[in-house]
Amino acid sequence: MAAASMESVVNLCKRRGFVFPGSEIYGGLGASLDYGPLGVELKRNVKDAWWQAIVTRRDDVVGLDAAVVMHPRVWEASGHLAGFTDPLVDCKRCKQRFRADHVQGTACPECGGELTESRQFNLMFKTFVGPVEDTAHVAYLRPETAQGTFINFRNVLETARLKLPFGIAQVGRSFRNEITPGNFLFRTREFEQMELEFFVRPGDDDQWYEYWTHERLEWYAAIGIKREKLRLRPHEKDELAHYAKGCVDVEYAFPFGWSELEGIANRTDFDLRRHSEASGKDLTYYDEERRERYFPYVIEPAAGADRTTLALLVDAYDEDQIEGESRIVLRLHPRVAPYKAAVFPLLRKDGQPERARRIYDALRRRFAVDYDQAGSIGRRYRRQDEVGTPYGITVDHDTMKDGTVTLRDRDATTQVRIPEDRLVDEIATRIGG
Ligand code: GAP
Repeated sequence: MAAASMESVVNLCKRRGFVFPGSEIYGGLGASLDYGPLGVELKRNVKDAWWQAIVTRRDDVVGLDAAVVMHPRVWEASGHLAGFTDPLVDCKRCKQRFRADHVQGTACPECGGELTESRQFNLMFKTFVGPVEDTAHVAYLRPETAQGTFINFRNVLETARLKLPFGIAQVGRSFRNEITPGNFLFRTREFEQMELEFFVRPGDDDQWYEYWTHERLEWYAAIGIKREKLRLRPHEKDELAHYAKGCVDVEYAFPFGWSELEGIANRTDFDLRRHSEASGKDLTYYDEERRERYFPYVIEPAAGADRTTLALLVDAYDEDQIEGESRIVLRLHPRVAPYKAAVFPLLRKDGQPERARRIYDALRRRFAVDYDQAGSIGRRYRRQDEVGTPYGITVDHDTMKDGTVTLRDRDATTQVRIPEDRLVDEIATRIGG
């Protein structure tokens, strides 16, 4: 097993169409990345797995898709306008900017020049709504999906007729004008979040915080990330966000060190209370059992779809030797792999391509499947190994005689023969539904 370097993962992503440098033909734009055909499938599978676990398979969570640009007062009430800042320093000599908390000492890490005093820099992207660019029309791109959930609390409560405890889930793009983005997909200026706001009775919050911490750690293992590369790290008091009573990060051992995949925070009743005060609208909950009205507490597991995608790529990357030949293989869990299978005719004659095409058409009604008839069969296997396709299906002369095909396993590289009409069920069973 070869430990993945960031360089090998970045190269594979570019070469095979997972992730491209953003705006490449214009020389690129710092920390802006574009997902290619395979990356889109991988990230979509991540978001689907999250939605399945958080919304579809539960009866206490519903979904929401709020706007990216909201009323600017949202950010005033939430505390983001005043407090969503990072300390910034400038180098007086080379003019580069750094996050003050990422710099050791008082000299520029690039040129050794003198640094300015640190000042607070707000991470929200500013824009204008409508054609007039003045202060009355300023708006912000959301830096988290969560606020869209809080301002819709009443709407969801009244229409979905929910009782505590219950959750509202969102998956969507968020934007932060990060001072030092980097490490490929890890820290970019636009990214996708998968956030659950889980509303509970005050007093039950500690217990739900424990529950969600455990659930969320298990989810990463369930999508195939190695357990020994995952850990929980509770925040120190001075690291807590302005709204949080407690927070624990799920971290992954990236090549650049242990880093956050997700934060699970106890946001208390901070947000509902603040929006209630600022808007003058009642955002309390009436508890029929207790016959009292209160602001629910919120437990928030907040994950990143891009960071999870990066962790999956790094975790799955491997190089090994097959029959004396080295190969790159992505050992992705079949649930998240971009293609579940690839179909190959052994020869481009004797009716094999037509037969293989028929199998491919039947399979892709159920799964994302690839078809490849170019090059030697060994090369075709390698191409699929490299993008994580767990199963290879080959049509050969025996198929034409007895209707069986070979089914090759990406990791073990073993092959079995099975009747072609059992393929859909066999693959469904192997990928777990
Ligand atoms: N609503 C709470 C919240 O936004 P956060 O820890 O700031 O909490 C949640 O963000 C998750 O969003 C992070 O754990 C990470 O996965 C993802 N995330 C945050 N900033 C990011 C960035 N600049 N690039 C990529 N993902 C990011």
